[in-house]
Amino acid sequence: MPTYLNRGGRELMGLDQDADVTTLPARGFHRSDSGDKVTNAGVPEATRTGRWSGRSILVNRDGREIPVSQVLVAHRNADGEVEYFATIMRDISEQLTLERRVNEAEKVESLGLMAGGVAHDFNNLLVGVLCNASLLVDDLPERSENRALALDIQRAAERAAELSRQMLAYAGKARVELVDVDVSSLAARSLPLLQASIPAHAQIVSKLQRPLPILRGDPTQLEQVLSNLVINAAESLGDEAGEVEIRTEHLEHPFGELLRDDLPEGLQHGVVCLSVRDTGAGMTEDTRRRAFDPFFTTKFTGRGLGLSSVMGIVRAHQGAIAVESRVGVGTVFRLFFPAAEPTASHRPPVSTSNEHVTRRRVLLVDDEDVVLRVAEVVIRRMGLEPVCANSGARALELVQRDPARIHAAVVDLTMPGMDGIQLARALKGLNPSIPVLLSSGYPESRVDEVDEVDGFLPKPYTPSQMTQALQALLDDAIVAPPD
Ligand SMILES: Nc1ncnc2c1ncn2[C@@H]1O[C@H](COP(=O)(O)OP(=O)(O)OP(=O)(O)O)[C@@H](O)[C@H]1O
Ligand SMILES: [Mg+2]
Repeated sequence: MPTYLNRGGRELMGLDQDADVTTLPARGFHRSDSGDKVTNAGVPEATRTGRWSGRSILVNRDGREIPVSQVLVAHRNADGEVEYFATIMRDISEQLTLERRVNEAEKVESLGLMAGGVAHDFNNLLVGVLCNASLLVDDLPERSENRALALDIQRAAERAAELSRQMLAYAGKARVELVDVDVSSLAARSLPLLQASIPAHAQIVSKLQRPLPILRGDPTQLEQVLSNLVINAAESLGDEAGEVEIRTEHLEHPFGELLRDDLPEGLQHGVVCLSVRDTGAGMTEDTRRRAFDPFFTTKFTGRGLGLSSVMGIVRAHQGAIAVESRVGVGTVFRLFFPAAEPTASHRPPVSTSNEHVTRRRVLLVDDEDVVLRVAEVVIRRMGLEPVCANSGARALELVQRDPARIHAAVVDLTMPGMDGIQLARALKGLNPSIPVLLSSGYPESRVDEVDEVDGFLPKPYTPSQMTQALQALLDDAIVAPPD
């Protein structure tokens, strides 16, 4: 039975300052499992050693649970017998919330690392599968059974490549090509395709604010985000008719009274909000908490990668996501992006020339044999002559003998020893006119900053993607004339 409760304790428990605590049962303060813990573990230990500490849960007068850290101290009389216990408790609600957030951030980071690593290795293997299947399809007679089999391999590999792309997006490793984007126009442009990709009983309605400040973003990825959200929204409707609302708006003062100068860096122009709302099934609290985890799905045929890639893409855009959902009522996903000041960004036009490539020698460097072998065939079929090396050192050796002999290089980024960027630098040192195409299973954005690299070819690539990239490289380059 308690004899004294200080002011803080009374506030915590929701008791009046003059309430008589001596009539309250000692166990009435704790949630029953916590009460058991204190009685069965805490009291005996404090009796034995003088002190016990642990975490427990109180229930205050309104029935609200309060997590506390608690210390129980046994006070003894002159004979050494326990006379009374004193306990000190500290409300740790805030600390627990922070701990949960840190855990969540750590989880996202480590899952991202894993997803990125798996996708990277996958992409190397997929070059082998995708390119070989595609070469077979080209070679086999139109009506042969084997051609149909090769086509199946190609399709399956393309789906695997799509999965891998989504995993990279989640890992925040998707290649972002930042340009000025008007999200209202982007959404308006996507509407016909979005409506076509969901059942007719799900009607898209759009409320697009115009003019809308632009944001710096990657249009392809933002379309992907919109598509993932709209498909989820339509799926949540099940067989019922319902609406999917796409809305864009400019929140000029998202932080209320904060002065413009006090706003966090990059938010001076307010926030562009893109939201997708449905009147579907909604999510339980448990589903909402896990919805962004990679491979979490409640759908029979779902892969659980839609929202995780949305999250990766939004993070790569310095954005944030808020979700509101009620079972049986519906869900709204709100995405927030920093609005930008318009900049005149002109990207150099990509060469589309289809000039015939004269027989030139292309250096091919990759530590994966399967990639090397299939890329060799693709290069040969372009009418070019491949020169293969499975390491940077070996490649340099080949070029050193006669630097004018090589007209272009396709170089893998991650290789043991000398990596692709180091190799590109070394190659340019030997012959500055060799154009270098860097290839990687990670869509590397740092490549843009490396002067010695003239183009990027993400893995997995198809023969025609490789052909195009190499053709553009050769078209643009002023290479030494073939001997
Ligand atoms: N608009 C929504 N309404 C209700 N539940 C949703 C909604 N969006 C997502 N969810 C829940 O979140 C889960 C994860 O969504 P996510 O898009 O990542 O995967 P998926 O749709 O199950 O599969 P995938 O998108 O890979 O085909 C869904 O399975 C569903 O339970
Ligand atoms: Mg989905």
